[in-house]
Amino acid sequence: MIEIGSKIPKRYPVSLAPMMDWTDRHFRYLLRLISKHTFLYTEMIHTGAILHGDRKRFLSYNPEELPLAIQLGGDQPKALAECSKISEDYGYSEVNLNVGCPSDRVREGNFGACLMETPEKVAELVAAMDSSVSIPITVKCRIGIPGKESFEDLCRFIEVVKDAGVRRFIIHARIAILGGLSPAQNRQIPPLRYADVERIKQTFPDLVVEINGGIRTYDEIEERLKKNDGVMIGRAAYETPYFFSEIDSRFFGENSLPPSRREILIRMQDYLDRYVLGEPNSKPHFVLRHLLGLFHAEKGARSYRRILTEQMFSHYTRDLLFQAAGEIPDSALDFIPSQNKKRNFESTIASA
Ligand SMILES: Cc1cc2nc3c(=O)[nH]c(=O)nc-3n(C[C@H](O)[C@H](O)[C@H](O)COP(=O)(O)O)c2cc1C
Repeated sequence: MIEIGSKIPKRYPVSLAPMMDWTDRHFRYLLRLISKHTFLYTEMIHTGAILHGDRKRFLSYNPEELPLAIQLGGDQPKALAECSKISEDYGYSEVNLNVGCPSDRVREGNFGACLMETPEKVAELVAAMDSSVSIPITVKCRIGIPGKESFEDLCRFIEVVKDAGVRRFIIHARIAILGGLSPAQNRQIPPLRYADVERIKQTFPDLVVEINGGIRTYDEIEERLKKNDGVMIGRAAYETPYFFSEIDSRFFGENSLPPSRREILIRMQDYLDRYVLGEPNSKPHFVLRHLLGLFHAEKGARSYRRILTEQMFSHYTRDLLFQAAGEIPDSALDFIPSQNKKRNFESTIASA
């Protein structure tokens, strides 16, 4: 019998946020090429999809993505316990419960952020999950919901859920407004309250407390890491994935150089070829859409995006990616951030 709370999660200073429709296995593969150490999360997967849907499609991932947490959504202890066990058998590193999604559909299903109303219910869910696996069970939540938005409410939530075995909390530093705001507005309108998340770490020093929401620069990450154990990044990772090229050296003590974007393109083309050949219902744009932000703010980025978006859906040919990248100057393609020098890399776009 494994003791409650004995599964201590590893500490990762930086993680990639779960994002529906964005952080699928193709995007995660791309991010893993850019950062070897960032802890990755899947999109939220509802227990019903795993138990009654195409399980393999929902759960499979590329082994390179590890360490990788799966995020589950649900409100039934038995189903969550079963899905946690299945996830462990698939090789996931951790199972995370979504207690932060504010969407109407999710609220109607009685999971996501509305669970913050009932900490005892969350405790029941995570206890069931915890007792079925030997990997850590973690929770991603908000700082509150209307009516339960004080620091004391948040403390009580953490206290009750921690006692059921959770040792890692990732806290989006905004309340979730249920009803009236779309999920996108709920990521923008409620003000960020970083101080509340920092006080949670001070109040529960033995927990791994990670902060999320609106973090976009290395300086901000550094600042937040002074008071929290980790920083989770969402939109900035998706919109500007090459931002992660300095994460390993700055926050994980990695000495080796990150790949240039030319190398990344070559590896992604290789990945795309294997995917298109290897999977019956594959579509090139399922992979290519995640590459649109790779040259964000670089000269030629607009033409690169235009060529990809115009052709990836119906006019895909194998040279599309490199044709689009032809719009980007060599200086950007070969740039390696921390070293600011060209790497002696033999492959070229022409030979890829
Ligand atoms: C397109 C999109 C989908 C999201 N899907 C999820 C999800 O499935 N599970 C979850 O916990 N949060 C989800 N989120 C919220 C993010 O994980 C994160 O908490 C939020 O974007 C704030 O972080 P950021 O400011 O770094 O983007 C989603 C966000 C976006 C933009």
